[in-house]
Amino acid sequence: MKIDVFTLFPAWFDWFLSQRHVRNALGAGNQLRLFNYRDSTPLGGGQVDDSPYGGGAGMVLRVDAVDAAIRAAYADGLEPSRLLVLSASGRQLDDGLARDLASEPHVALLSGRYEGIDERVRDHLATDAVSIGPYVLSGGELASMVVTDAIIRKLPGALGHADSAIEESFSEALEGAPEYPHYTRPASYRGWSVPDVLLSGDHARVREWRLEQSRKRARAAGTPTDA
Ligand SMILES: C[S@@+](CC[C@H](N)C(=O)[O-])C[C@H]1O[C@@H](n2cnc3c(N)ncnc32)[C@H](O)[C@@H]1O
Repeated sequence: MKIDVFTLFPAWFDWFLSQRHVRNALGAGNQLRLFNYRDSTPLGGGQVDDSPYGGGAGMVLRVDAVDAAIRAAYADGLEPSRLLVLSASGRQLDDGLARDLASEPHVALLSGRYEGIDERVRDHLATDAVSIGPYVLSGGELASMVVTDAIIRKLPGALGHADSAIEESFSEALEGAPEYPHYTRPASYRGWSVPDVLLSGDHARVREWRLEQSRKRARAAGTPTDA
């Protein structure tokens, strides 16, 4: 799979790219490329933004600068199957969307800055607008990393234990519910004991207990499940 991130701050991704699961995913043949809007802007002096029509605070990323970055990146005709613009007002990311994106051959993410991106990008260039939650970040870089991370851990070869991504929160194996609680040694700490069933060695009972805990968490969180 190919993931492209458009940003004004590619250096933000240095740390992300150095993480083991990301390196694993890249080593397994996936690609993560970064494009700086400034490298292809048709405007003088590396300009990419302008003041908003109608007035107001801040600057807006220009549609011509974003379009130029997209055209330059895909001059070879190899366009992404999904082109996401990151926006607090977009569709909220969830496991279903992450799964859907992970099944695409090529996804591109447009990170905004300042007051955001000219709306014509969302209307005419992007296929989706995606939010990572109902709060406002300073820029789309962290949001792009969150979306990329949620995708990458679903790609074969990214995780040390492939099974980790099969049975985890919101997966089909858990009927779409949050994951059950985990415990490790010591079995008792400051009087806080691990549930007996987990020490029983009875795999069927453990499985049943875990599913029930997942369902309980779904009910507590009001999360819809497939059960
Ligand atoms: C300072 S924010 C712009 C906030 C915008 N004026 C608003 O009120 O929604 C700059 C950029 O950060 C990104 N961003 C901020 N919050 C986000 C969120 N919750 N999810 C996804 N992207 C977000 C978007 O790319 C946005 O264009």
